[in-house]
Amino acid sequence: MAFLLSGWLAHAQEVKALYKNKDASIEERIEDLIPRMTLEEKVLQMNQWTYGKNANPNNIETAMKKVRPEIGSLIYRSTNPLFRNQIQKKAMEESRLGIPIIFGFDAIHGYKTVFPIPLAQACTWDVELVRRSCEVSARECWLSGVDWTFSPMIDVARDPRWGRVAEGYGEDSYANAAFAVAAVQGYQGDSLADKYTIAACLKHYVGYSLSEGGRDYHYSDVSGQTLWETFMPPYRAGVAAGAATLMSGFNDISGVPASANYYTLTEILKKRWGHDGFVVSDWGSVENLIAQGVAKDRKEAGFKSFMAGVEMDMVDDVYVENLPQLVEEGMVPMSSIDEAVRRILRVKFRLGLFDQPYVDDIPEKDRYLRPTDLALAEQIAAESMVLLKNENQLLPIQPTAKKLAIIGPMVMDSVNLMGSWEGMGEPRHVSTIYNGLQKEFGADTKLIYAKGCAFDGTDTLGFAEARKAAMEADMVLLFLGEQKKWSGENGSRSSIALPNIQEKLMEAIYETGKPIVLVLSNGRPLELLRLNELAGAILEIWQPGTMGGAAVAGILSGRINPSGKLSITFPRTVGQIPMYYNMRRPARWMGYYQDIDKEPMYWLGHGLSYTTYSYGELQLSARKINKDEKIRARIEVSNMGIRDGKEAVLWFISDPVASVSRPVKELKFFEKKHIDANGVQVYEFEIDPGRDLSFYDKNGVKHLESGRYLVQVQDEKVEFEIVD
Ligand code: GLC
Repeated sequence: MAFLLSGWLAHAQEVKALYKNKDASIEERIEDLIPRMTLEEKVLQMNQWTYGKNANPNNIETAMKKVRPEIGSLIYRSTNPLFRNQIQKKAMEESRLGIPIIFGFDAIHGYKTVFPIPLAQACTWDVELVRRSCEVSARECWLSGVDWTFSPMIDVARDPRWGRVAEGYGEDSYANAAFAVAAVQGYQGDSLADKYTIAACLKHYVGYSLSEGGRDYHYSDVSGQTLWETFMPPYRAGVAAGAATLMSGFNDISGVPASANYYTLTEILKKRWGHDGFVVSDWGSVENLIAQGVAKDRKEAGFKSFMAGVEMDMVDDVYVENLPQLVEEGMVPMSSIDEAVRRILRVKFRLGLFDQPYVDDIPEKDRYLRPTDLALAEQIAAESMVLLKNENQLLPIQPTAKKLAIIGPMVMDSVNLMGSWEGMGEPRHVSTIYNGLQKEFGADTKLIYAKGCAFDGTDTLGFAEARKAAMEADMVLLFLGEQKKWSGENGSRSSIALPNIQEKLMEAIYETGKPIVLVLSNGRPLELLRLNELAGAILEIWQPGTMGGAAVAGILSGRINPSGKLSITFPRTVGQIPMYYNMRRPARWMGYYQDIDKEPMYWLGHGLSYTTYSYGELQLSARKINKDEKIRARIEVSNMGIRDGKEAVLWFISDPVASVSRPVKELKFFEKKHIDANGVQVYEFEIDPGRDLSFYDKNGVKHLESGRYLVQVQDEKVEFEIVD
């Protein structure tokens, strides 16, 4: 009998360790582990605390907590992998079951190597560049002890007063979907268990960018039609690309806050799309349900959020304080707790954290800012910059211009160029505009610098020096823009104009009569109504990141031919908001403001080059097809100039008559190609009716209707028909 017992125990020991057996399947390991967990251990897995300095002043951090080894996740704000490994060691060795912690962080557009803000990256219209930037970010995160980034942010922009338009990929739904997929691929690679790959997090699910009036954290009235047509496609694409997690938003979605919305979090995300990872709430957004008036206390907030489908609670401790009691009271079934824990464990197993809980500790100099990564950052910065205006070819700067006045508060700046959510980026690593110009224009051009004014305020004392610099120079490069804190989270502004002091500086320089190149660094579309007329050329450089100075200098000198095109429309004035390219057709064409031009200043897709591209005839392989057939659309683009360049072609579809009114046009494909001087490139788009002509109704039902359609490139449109 003793022999049998010892054999059984040995076997039991073997079975006991199943979840630790790397040869077992992930699902087997999960199902072995969950029954071993106590309710407290399960609930702790559903909690995220923070560790390290809190850089976000809007997130009032509770005191640094003594990390419990059973905690599910930490927001990790150290760059030291050893520190993370020490904490992880506690989890692996001091807890009863040895469940690893998942460490998260906001690497939104880079970790230490800071890339342009996502709004700018979208202006490259190059998904491969975005994928590569996320791949670099993932490596730097991984080597710092971060397993999970709260990125990509894919909230389709609708109101530039909202500071967070800086964090997403612009105003188009298809573009946000395409870049979401690229980001997930960049972060997650081929396998989450591989080194240098990290879990992605699609955020802020969903409709957050409709926060009323652009006021952050406010109510968002999201109709069913808008939800499905505009805001769901990027999330559906990101989930289909395998995004491990999502983050529920702060916003109240038409009466049901995103962090307590069963329809979006469970009905759609889990049941309809089959997402098998987990959802983390935004910072304290579970507790915020009380402020939003849908929970009377923390317990009800925890109940509503959990039962809606939020698996992990970010930093407000509502779950850890209330879920055990809710289970004991029979309000929350243990089976639901188990399913939530299952999803969190699944991501941890897929990340390989059970088998490889520690990251390599390599010297900091080998972790960050590799020359290849900086070169990529410079390329993306350059390709994200948009030449908005270039009268009489004022740019590129001609060799005859031997004296350049370099004026403005952005010239020496190394902080604001990184933009909001700069991760662990450091000003000391930033190529400033002045640095970039010095290197680019070398000794044979005189740079005459004057700050002119601060970013805001009323002090005009610097104007005289700025005017003097202008008078001495052949032309003026005027660098104006926004501070990083004026966009990003809680960066909403009632005006999208630059502060008056900056406009007055420009007026003062304009009076000198010298040609002005206006260079803008900002995190949102700006009101350029007054400045546009004073500038001979306008270059939008956004917040270009670590290599911004080098990139802008390359464009100004002509070494780089600008290729960026706007990912978001610039309204003439804040009064035109909402103003985006694919609005619905009005009942009557004259229904615009009577006191201002009906057009915006610059539409999505606008962007000039130093060369001229000539678009040939838009050709279709057929004009009439059945629903299950495809049409090949084709157009030739010729580079008529003497400079090589890159040209992004944006393909739009219009559906002039349908059972549900359709936007005036919708982006359905884009592609960027290099075109040699005097060369030609062919661009093709295979129109797949099921993918490109269908639309979702307010209930998320997909429709493909027969009838007339148009395919459009620039201003050329060609009609075709779908027949039953
Ligand atoms: C913030 C942001 C969210 C971020 C999170 C963690 O409040 O809304 O985008 O990922 O908290 O920092």
